[in-house]
Amino acid sequence: MDFSSLFPPSTSLVIADEEMWHTPLRDEEEALIDGAIDKRQREFRAGRNAAHKALTLLQAPDVAILRGERREPVWPAGYIGSIAHCRDLCLAVCARDGEIAGLGIDVEPLTPLPEGVDRYIHTETDAKLMQSKRNAFPERLVFSAKESLYKCYYPLIGRYFGFQSVNLTEVDKGHFKFRPTDKCQVDFPPELTFHGHYRYDSTHLLTACYLARD
Ligand SMILES: CC(C)(COP(=O)(O)OP(=O)(O)OC[C@H]1O[C@@H](n2cnc3c(N)ncnc32)[C@H](O)[C@@H]1OP(=O)(O)O)[C@@H](O)C(=O)NCCC(=O)NCCS
Repeated sequence: MDFSSLFPPSTSLVIADEEMWHTPLRDEEEALIDGAIDKRQREFRAGRNAAHKALTLLQAPDVAILRGERREPVWPAGYIGSIAHCRDLCLAVCARDGEIAGLGIDVEPLTPLPEGVDRYIHTETDAKLMQSKRNAFPERLVFSAKESLYKCYYPLIGRYFGFQSVNLTEVDKGHFKFRPTDKCQVDFPPELTFHGHYRYDSTHLLTACYLARD
């Protein structure tokens, strides 16, 4: 997969290598997965180790990345980022909080969503939009786009919002856009420009978004 054009050059994107999936973290971070099942420990280590490398490349302070009240990673002051993992792929992206105000990333296996899940994810507008497209696994793409945009906005908004809160309005040539639905109860900061991207390879689907202070 070509990861290079997903985020601006000032960001730092790291794909977890084999070692990162099992290298132990700082004690405070390990405490967050104490008693978790093996799969969860592996993905958490991969995500945190990749994030630490991404932050090191940006010369950020070397501190533990703890967890906020809605599971969001707590980044060192002045930095932002996002983490995504599935069974066999994990990535972290980080940036200085400046021209870029938010980052979101999501990775999914290239398989259908479990039966029936799409009706919780898709709005009618999404369903209509995707009918006119020829994307592989369109339900997965809508799901992933919404997950990555949630990760991008949550740290700024500080409030949960569900899948029925936004409609995808454009999904084309590797780009996506969205608009809040009438049911949406959160305000998306209007001064920030949203950039959404998606990419496929033969096994995975990746969505990535960022917010620019233009
Ligand atoms: C938060 C959520 C998107 C994470 O997705 P997931 O399928 O569990 O797992 P992913 O691998 O994609 O991502 C997990 C990572 O997301 C990050 N994350 C979790 N909650 C987050 C939040 N509130 N804000 C930002 N990032 C968050 C974490 O880094 C987490 O990994 P970690 O626990 O190892 O640190 C999902 O659990 C969720 O709550 N979705 C419902 C909200 C939503 O998507 N609404 C759609 C709005 S249109």
